Amino acid sequence: MEQSKQIASQNTPKSKHSQPATQLSAFQRWKKGWTPLQIAVHIASLLPFLWLLWKGSTNDLTANPIQFITQTTGFVAIILLILCLACTPLNLLFGWRQLNTLRRPLGLYGFFYISLHIATFLLLDYGLNWPLIVGAGREKRYILFGLSAFVLLLPLALTSTRGWMRRLGKNWKRIHRLIYLAVPIAIVHWSLSLKSDIRIPVFYGALVVLLLLMRLPAIKRWIARLRHPQR
Ligand code: HEM
Repeated sequence: MEQSKQIASQNTPKSKHSQPATQLSAFQRWKKGWTPLQIAVHIASLLPFLWLLWKGSTNDLTANPIQFITQTTGFVAIILLILCLACTPLNLLFGWRQLNTLRRPLGLYGFFYISLHIATFLLLDYGLNWPLIVGAGREKRYILFGLSAFVLLLPLALTSTRGWMRRLGKNWKRIHRLIYLAVPIAIVHWSLSLKSDIRIPVFYGALVVLLLLMRLPAIKRWIARLRHPQR
């Protein structure tokens, strides 16, 4: 009897952090389980969006606001996608397992900025004038590359929930490998959109090639041997 009382008292919540799930506030439930790194990634990913809203509200979007929004959202999207691609290789190199939990938010925020990027082009730039949009697609090759990257990323964003992960099983991983194709195509889109100096997209392109090479089994084995020479 005394023993069961003791066990019961051990299980009784003593601090607000050990309340049963039903007694947690919505904010506590939302925050529960998030590491400081995850919180930092969410904040950092939302900052460019808030910055754009701030600049918009203060009429500070440069002399060409549409171009400014298109370029900013495109750049932020590609950086987030590259960071998403970098998580696995960095984990392999340094054993930072926490990075695995960042792939989904980074990919989804990347897709969020791509959606803003495309919405700016279709709505603000072309006013949903489809004949004009089709004409632009025919005339500017980089639009077709951008569209291809978007089409490849769409199934990833749509199946990013745990429910889809369960339903698709092994196919989920296969579908999510489309990112290996989408990001290089997006980099080609970026390079072709520039009229002259393409050194920056070439630099990011080289980085992406390196990150993709690090996923090859032979290179993975070589890195594992470097990290654990005794094995
Ligand atoms: C995965 C999809 C995409 C990504 C990651 C992406 C990314 C980018 C990047 C990084 C730039 C260059 C920004 C800069 O100059 O700093 C750019 C430019 C541009 N993108 Fe995309 N893009 C994507 C899809 C699209 C699509 C589907 C369209 C149109 C339907 C589009 C329209 C444009 C336009 C018009 C520009 C040129 C902006 C300018 O310099 O005037 N993009 N994009």
